[in-house]
Amino acid sequence: MDVINIRSDTQTLPTDAMLQAMATAPLGDDTYDEDPTVQKLEAMAAERLGMEAAMLVISGNMANLCALMSHARPGDEVLLDPESHIYFYESGGLASVAGLMPMSVPSERGMMQPDDLRAAVRKRNIHHPTPRLFCLENTHNRSGGRVVPLKLHQELCAAARENGLAIHLDGARIFNAAIAADVPVTDYTRDVDSIMFCLSKGLSCPLGSVLCGRRDFIEQAQWVRKRLGGGMRQAGVIAAAGIVALEQMVDRLAEDHEHARLLARALAEIPGLNVDLGSVETNMVNVDHSETGLSTGDFLERLKSVGILAGGRPPRQIRFVANRHHTRETMREIARRVEIVVRSALQRG
Ligand SMILES: Cc1ncc(COP(=O)(O)O)c(C=O)c1O
Repeated sequence: MDVINIRSDTQTLPTDAMLQAMATAPLGDDTYDEDPTVQKLEAMAAERLGMEAAMLVISGNMANLCALMSHARPGDEVLLDPESHIYFYESGGLASVAGLMPMSVPSERGMMQPDDLRAAVRKRNIHHPTPRLFCLENTHNRSGGRVVPLKLHQELCAAARENGLAIHLDGARIFNAAIAADVPVTDYTRDVDSIMFCLSKGLSCPLGSVLCGRRDFIEQAQWVRKRLGGGMRQAGVIAAAGIVALEQMVDRLAEDHEHARLLARALAEIPGLNVDLGSVETNMVNVDHSETGLSTGDFLERLKSVGILAGGRPPRQIRFVANRHHTRETMREIARRVEIVVRSALQRG
């Protein structure tokens, strides 16, 4: 049986055009500012995102850390959603590496509200850490790739500004957000001080993320990247794939969204599964499997036995992420195999 890997868009392999570009890119030592391919990617990324400057980083995680440490000093407070990737999935680097105090702004299915942000900002007082930075995430990973609508994004940014906070956008999948919201990506970057986006997700690069912001911010972030051990040499081999990604891979993300919707509709038809179809806005589908009586781990094991590699959101959810290696037929085949697993679980129960 062929194995279908739909765990994440990080599983995408580089395209032939990327491999070709990586093999032939002009290279230099980027730590000496001498890699022309890195410089080309950084200029393209800055222009595309409507920001002054950009910096190639090895991962999204490191790009977020560089942003946190460039905006804030140890002991400062960063306001963010406890369901955000920075808080939830980055090994506590926010505290252990950046030395920042997290202050939670609650979210409901990925959406924070401006008044909750205002309420979370404490008045300047010697007893409190200094509130310095507000972090947004779009699309929102843990809510299943939901898009923060542009109006809400703008209102949140306005509330952050009223309170003198800098704004960082974790836009690992910002192109997915802009496509789904049907707005230019620059509508989401206009009000923020920095944004990072990932080349290595739906855009299919083997690695790399780009941090964008004002020129003085990026100069500071370059120091931080070096301090974190992220300074690179002939990084043009990474940047070359990134250039192909920006030129060829952005618009096709809409296809992943269509495939995710197709899969969500098919899974919603299966008795024993619950899918919130309204939450399927981009390339992710979160499915509640609790009626099957299986733990998330057991459910994933059973999916594996029928050749499906999916992701877990314990204790109740399985996650599927559509990417360029899938077709409409892949989605139908996944639904067929999932139905076999669910039926057998319900019969045994
Ligand atoms: C929203 C978000 N931010 C940051 C990251 C981190 O990216 P990386 O895996 O490249 O470190 C991810 C990865 O999945 C993500 O989904």
